[in-house]
Amino acid sequence: MSIALAASPARDWDALAAALASAVGAASRLRREEPLGPRTTLRVGGAARIFLEPADPAALAAALRFVRTAGVPFFSLGRGSNLLVPDEGVDGVVIALEGPAWSAFTPGGDGTVWTGAGLRLKQLCGLATKAGLAGFEFLEGIPGTVGGALRMNAGAMGGWMFDRVEEVELMSPEGDIARRPRAAFHVDYRHCRELRDAIALGARLRSGVTAAAPAEDIARQIDVYRRKRQESQPREASAGCVFKNPPGDSAGRLIDQCGLKGLREGAAEVSPIHANFIVNHGGASAADVLALVRRVRAAVRVQKGVELQPEVLLFGRRWEEYL
Ligand code: EPU
Repeated sequence: MSIALAASPARDWDALAAALASAVGAASRLRREEPLGPRTTLRVGGAARIFLEPADPAALAAALRFVRTAGVPFFSLGRGSNLLVPDEGVDGVVIALEGPAWSAFTPGGDGTVWTGAGLRLKQLCGLATKAGLAGFEFLEGIPGTVGGALRMNAGAMGGWMFDRVEEVELMSPEGDIARRPRAAFHVDYRHCRELRDAIALGARLRSGVTAAAPAEDIARQIDVYRRKRQESQPREASAGCVFKNPPGDSAGRLIDQCGLKGLREGAAEVSPIHANFIVNHGGASAADVLALVRRVRAAVRVQKGVELQPEVLLFGRRWEEYL
């Protein structure tokens, strides 16, 4: 099916990249036409016109001021676990907070820990286990970063990222840094209003229990969750759950009841293990995935009278353009 897309203004990306490179300084890494598929868990989609890994907050602020003045869209990329990148790629600057400068894990000695936005949740769980900090076990299976989990208020096994937040440091689109307490954030199911435009730089998280826990107990709880996930979710490349659960119901159950498990478009398939996952068997395109998303939505609308809403972000685009 052909898709009518809003045309992006023609830009001289080479000139923009050169100017941005000098604005952020040589310690930052900048590349043109960086393939994004390999940076996502679903492994589909095109390239970023400009891809930037800022060296530090000053470079990030310089980048944000630059794109603002130049009128170029920017998008922040975490672990890429909840993203569908369109085949035509992203007309903008994609910013990733990669490397040690963004991956702090600094226990405060009072049951809290300062975590950088680029820290992977899996690393966070491992480090928290060693530090005797319980309460982060539910994050282990989410293939995201702290920054992405804050932005999406990621959740699993009944826990939510913002349950653990004490304060967040964020950078406004103007490049200003602020620290805000948990109470300043409007969070919801898979959503945080304040982080729609601002970028999280890090967060102070609080352990769920007051006393330090033995590492074996924490590791045991992580294992329980891991086993549960392995039994109920596919292992192939995916972007996690595609649709949000409608209030009081489960998108996976609804899709399953419509008999859609195993539905295929090219190398993309509605997982036979969990119907709210679309898996990539290797070589799927974003168009294949989008076609499945439309077919699943249409079937659930007709058979169940429910309009499923995507949970996965369509990187650099709006879902309304495709649905
Ligand atoms: N179910 C089916 N068929 C399926 C899938 C599920 O009948 O193909 C039924 C299950 O048997 C169960 C119910 O639906 O009775 C709920 O399923 P599950 O426990 O797997 O939870 P879920 O609501 O589908 C949510 C999150 C997951 C998270 C799990 C575990 C959403 C959209 N999904 O799934 O998050 O890992 O709970 O906590 O909120 C994600 O956000 O990417 C994600 C995978």
